[in-house]
Amino acid sequence: MRGVKIVGTGSALPSRVVTNDDMAQMVDTSDEWISTRTGIRSRRWCAAGESQYTLARDAAKRALDAAGVAPDEVGVCLVATFTASAATPSAACLIQRDLGLAEDTFCLDVNAACAGFVYALAVAESLLARGGKPCALVVGAEELSRVMDMADRTTCVLFGDGAGACVLKAAEGYPALHAVWGSRGNGEALAAPGVNAARDEADAVCPSYLTMDGRAVFRFATEVLPRCCAEVLERAGVSASDVDRYVFHQANKRIVDVAVRKLGLDPAKCAGNIDRTGNTSAASVPILLDELVREGALGSGDRVVLAGFGAGLTWAGCLAELA
Ligand code: COA
Repeated sequence: MRGVKIVGTGSALPSRVVTNDDMAQMVDTSDEWISTRTGIRSRRWCAAGESQYTLARDAAKRALDAAGVAPDEVGVCLVATFTASAATPSAACLIQRDLGLAEDTFCLDVNAACAGFVYALAVAESLLARGGKPCALVVGAEELSRVMDMADRTTCVLFGDGAGACVLKAAEGYPALHAVWGSRGNGEALAAPGVNAARDEADAVCPSYLTMDGRAVFRFATEVLPRCCAEVLERAGVSASDVDRYVFHQANKRIVDVAVRKLGLDPAKCAGNIDRTGNTSAASVPILLDELVREGALGSGDRVVLAGFGAGLTWAGCLAELA
C-alpha cells in the first residue's frame, strides 16, 4: 500500500493583531487573567478583505509552492473548518478554481472542529491509497472571530483566525500515518451556530454564538490528548523519544502541559505558538507545523506527532514524516 510524507507546508494569518490589553478595552478582563490561564498574549482577527476563505487559499498556495508540486499532481483537496465563509461552494471547490487544480480533484470541506485537520489527513491518506494522482492538499482554516460572543468574556478571549496547509505525497515505501480518532457527541460542552440558528432560535440545535463549558472541555482535553498520542505511538511501534516534534492543537498551554507531563515528553519538543495565535481550531496544528518547518526546527526525515481535540466532541492523532 502507498504511504505518505509531508512534502510542503504553508500558513496565512490575518493582519489585525489583537493583544490581551486590546481585549481588556472590549470586555472585563486583563492580560494577567488571560495569559496565566491560557498562555495567550495576542491573537489575529480578520480585517477588511480577509476571511476564512482568503486565508485558506493563501495557506494552500504557499504549501503548494513550498512542495514544488504542480496543480495537476493534486488529486485530493480537503479543507477542515467549522467557520467556512460559505456553506457552499465549499472552500475546497474554490481552491480548486483559484489554484488551477484539475477538475477530477476530490474536493471536500471537513468538519471535525479542532480535530478537523488531523481527520482530514486521515481521509487524504485513505484516498491516496487508492492510486491515481500522488498528492493531496490538506488545509485547516478558521474565522472564529465571526462566531464569538463578545458579551461572554470566558470564550471571546480564547479564539483567533488563521489557516495552515500541507501537501501530502503518496508513494510505495512511504510510511502510514497510523492515525487514531474518536467522537463523543456532546452539544453542551462546546457548540457553535449552524445555518438554522438565526432563523428559529427556539428550535435551533446550536446557539447563535460559540458557547462553551470551559471546565468540562478542559477535563475532556486532558483525558483524550495524552491517550490518543499514546495510541499513535503504539500503532506506529515507536517510543516517545523517537519522535522529533509534537504538534498539539493550541487551545490552552495548560492542556499541553498536562499532556507533556502524562506522556513524559521532552517539553522542548512540544513548544507551541498559542501566545501569538490564540485558539485557531482546525488551523492551529498546520499553522504551528508550518512555523516549525520555516524556522528550521523540523526538516527532511523528521517525524512529528500531530494531534487535535475539540468540539463534537472529537479527537485525532497521527505520526507524519517530512520528505
Ligand atoms: N477575564 C477575567 N475573568 C474571567 C474571564 C476573563 N476573560 N473569564 C472568566 N473569568 C472569571 C469567571 O467569571 C470566574 O470568576 P468567579 O470565580 O468570580 O465566578 C473566574 O474567572 C474563574 O472562571 P473559570 O471559568 O472557573 O476559569 P477557569 O480557571 O476554568 O479557566 C478557561 C477558564 C476557559 C481558561 C479554562 O476552563 C479552559 O481553558 N478550558 C478549556 C477551554 C478550551 O480549550 N476550549 C477549546 C477546546 S478546542
